[in-house]
Formats: sequence, structure tokens, C-alpha cells
Amino acid sequence: MSYPLGIFRPMANLRTVHRCQECGASAPRWAGRCSGGGSWNTLVEEVDSQALPGPLAAGYGPAGAEAVPIAEVVGDRCRRRPTGVGELDRVLGGGLLPGSVTLLGGEPGIGKSTLLLQVLAGAAAAGGRCLLVSAEESAEQVQVRAARLGAARAGGLWLASETELSNLVAQVEQVAPTHLVVDSIQTVFDAALDSAPGSVAQVRHCTARLVRLAKERGVATVLVGHVTKDGSLAGPRVLEHSVDTVLSFEGDRHHGLRLLRAVKHRFGPVGELGLFEMGPRGLVGVPDAAGLFLADRQPGVSGSAVVAALDGCRPLLVEVQALVVSAKAAFPRRSAEGVDAGRLELLVAVLEKRVGADLGRSDVYALAAGGVRVVEPAADLALSLAVVSSHAGVALPADLVACGEVGLGGELRQVPQLERRLVEAARLGFGRAIVPAGSPQPPAGISALRAGTLAEAVRAADVHSHARSITETAPAS
Ligand code: TYD
Ligand code: MG
Repeated sequence: MSYPLGIFRPMANLRTVHRCQECGASAPRWAGRCSGGGSWNTLVEEVDSQALPGPLAAGYGPAGAEAVPIAEVVGDRCRRRPTGVGELDRVLGGGLLPGSVTLLGGEPGIGKSTLLLQVLAGAAAAGGRCLLVSAEESAEQVQVRAARLGAARAGGLWLASETELSNLVAQVEQVAPTHLVVDSIQTVFDAALDSAPGSVAQVRHCTARLVRLAKERGVATVLVGHVTKDGSLAGPRVLEHSVDTVLSFEGDRHHGLRLLRAVKHRFGPVGELGLFEMGPRGLVGVPDAAGLFLADRQPGVSGSAVVAALDGCRPLLVEVQALVVSAKAAFPRRSAEGVDAGRLELLVAVLEKRVGADLGRSDVYALAAGGVRVVEPAADLALSLAVVSSHAGVALPADLVACGEVGLGGELRQVPQLERRLVEAARLGFGRAIVPAGSPQPPAGISALRAGTLAEAVRAADVHSHARSITETAPAS
């Protein structure tokens, strides 16, 4: 009896070994130290592929298939199917491909299950057959969420609460879905392995099996992945290598805004940003997001500057705020939220040395308004201007945006895709932009104030003349 692609192998035949992740040596049982290379803690349980009949194919084609000229490759497997969730399609470059495997990572409660239920409901409404394997929630709990999203009556949507891999595979074979969601990969386990669900061995093995299943059956598969405390995907790195696309779903828990990014994407661009807002009826796309973070801006208040930022390929105008107050302790505080703390320290130092701002006895607080994170160097200039503005107690002009990286010499450096940023700024009604000297011509509707140094930019922004403690000219060194 042969098992051509490894799907229908009976569990009883599976033998496991412990393999060293560094040298590849195998051992019949776990040990702290590998007997081959002598490394510590590198043995991971896996199915002994040598004990299996048939090849272990994990690619698209059957094992042993001949090479074909690229011009003769035909087929509609590579036709993207739009998911019906516009912002997700934007990130994926048009939709999900049949046979592709996508890993969706994000912190608990960010909205992964909600997003995928919306995707499946949309795909089912468009005539797809969808299977949601929810290992973390019961079918009733999923039903409650679906009712909230208005998707409880969707035809073509099957639910399964299954955690054992071979049962899960059997469900997929029975339902024959076009779309499969497994929520989450850390809860799926193969009873043939001794390791606990969520362990490196289980996650790696189950992912490999589901990838194979997706390729063989042409199922567009999405796996939900947990993230660790530092925000990276939990489990082995090989998880990210073996899937086609890795999406990360982020957002500030205290704000409704959710950002979706492709970290890895075999079939399209990375760098697109999808924006959603979590509302009472699920996630709603925010197609025109450029001005989203400016809604509550108060003109005429000191310490506020607007940066034309770029997240991936998406321009966003973000208000960065600073508050400079006299220090309460011997060591002045620097506090940053939504902007890089190290960068803030650096900019304060440059302002002291190159612009002559006396900040040594001041606490400096800075944040990006609206729960967004702006960590690109292009925000340096706006952040510096916000600090100067707060320190001087003078507001920046309301129609001014700033874009520029600040160097340690106090010089302003070019930022990528300036035109794209300024087009959005002009569209949102900004009339002037402070940009590094030598920047290209600004687009129609916005004028450029060019500055070679941070000191020149401070003068151009017209905050310095009223400043109480900024010297008129920058010191020579
Ligand atoms: P969920 O999709 O369960 O997150 P994850 O799968 O990433 O853990 O949703 C998390 C939060 O979203 C939850 O706290 C409730 C909230 N929510 C809404 O605000 N509106 C809704 O319509 C739904 C379904 C959830
Ligand atoms: Mg969930």
C-alpha cells in the first residue's frame, strides 16, 4: 500500500525521533545535550520520515514531476480570489490565492478571529465553501460572534471545533473547502507526537501537514498564530518559512484602530498597510486614512507638529506632540509614546548642541496622537519642531507639515518618497512643507520651505523668534 503524498498515513505507522536542530543528528528519546554535535537544548521531537512509506512532498506539484518551460505553465491556481474585505485585499495585492497558506499573527484580543470570520462570511457569500476550524472557541461561541457580525445565516460556512490533526484533515477532506481557517495553529496537535500542543515539535509538524494539504487540494488556508510578549510570532521560525504569507495585525488596545501588514508575501508586495476600525459590528475598513490622526488636532496650541509619514506605501499625516516642562528631579525625564524613545533623546541632544535650545533642566514628553506609531526617521524634523514649539510656548502655523531626518551634525537629510507624502498633505489642505534642502519640486498646491539644517528649519517655522531660551544663532560646534 502506498501513501503518495503523505495525507492518508495511518497514525499507528508514525514513529517519532528527536532530531538536533543544529547538526541533524537523531536520538530515540529526548536529551538535554545532542550526542552528535554536543549542543544543548537543540533536540526537538518529529515524525521519523524514514519510517514512512512514500515521499514527503511539501510543494505544489506531485513528487517526481518533470520540469516544464515557464512559458508553458498554465492554470488558474494563480488567480487571486478577492476576500471581500477591501483592506485585506489591499495588503495581499488583490486577494487570497488557492493553495496558498497565510499566517496571521497578532496579540490576543486584537481582532484576528473577527477578521477571519468576516473573510469567510464574505467568501461564502461569493459562492465559496468555507471551513472554520476553531480550536479555541466552541461552535456556539463562534455563532455568537457571527450573529454580531451579521454572518450567522451565511450558507457555505462550516464550523468545526477540532484540535487533533488527523481529525482536522478528515474534516477538510469531507467538506472540501475552497477556504480554510485554523484558529489557532498553536492549539492543533498530532496525537502521534508525545510533545504538548503549542510545542515547537507540534507546531512545526502540524504546519507542515496543513501546508501540504493546502497545496494538494488548492485550499486557500489561513492559520492564526499567537505572538509572544515582544510581539513576534510564537513557535519556531520555520513556521514563517514554510508558509507563503505572514500577516501581522497590530493596534493599540485602547484605540479602535487596527493595522494590518504583510511581513512576508510570496505572491505580492510587502509594505502595503491595511487599516481597520473595530466597531460594534466587527472590523470596518478605513480606505481614506491619510487624515485620520488629525481629527482632534487643536490649532494654535504649542508643541504640536504634523509629519507627512509613510507606513509601508501608505501616506499618513500624523500629529506629533511634545510637552517641555521644568524638570522635577535631578535627572530630567524623556518620555516617548508612539515615537522612538532613543530617537527623542538623540533629537533633544541635537537641539541643545546645534540649535542652542536649553533643555538640560527640562522634562520632555513626546507622543504620536491617535494611538499610531511613527518610528521612521522622516518624523525627526516634526518631532524636533514640536519640542522647540513647546519649549518656546509658540504654536507652529496650522497649515505646516514637516518631513526630514535629522543628523547628529544638525543637518537635515532627505526622506524617501517625499512627493507621495506631500501630495497627501496638499490634498488634506496643508499649504507649506518644511523639507530638507535639495528636495525635489513639491507637487501642486503646497509650497516647500527648504532648510539645510535643523536650526534653519526652526527659523523657517517661525517659532524661534519668540523663543525665550533659544539663542538667535546656532553655536559653531
Ligand atoms: P477577537 O477577534 O476575538 O480577537 P483575537 O482573535 O485576535 O483574540 O476580538 C477581540 C475584541 O474585539 C474583543 O475584545 C471584542 C472586540 N469586538 C468588537 O469590538 N466588535 C465586534 O464586533 C467583535 C466581534 C469583537
Ligand atoms: Mg481569537
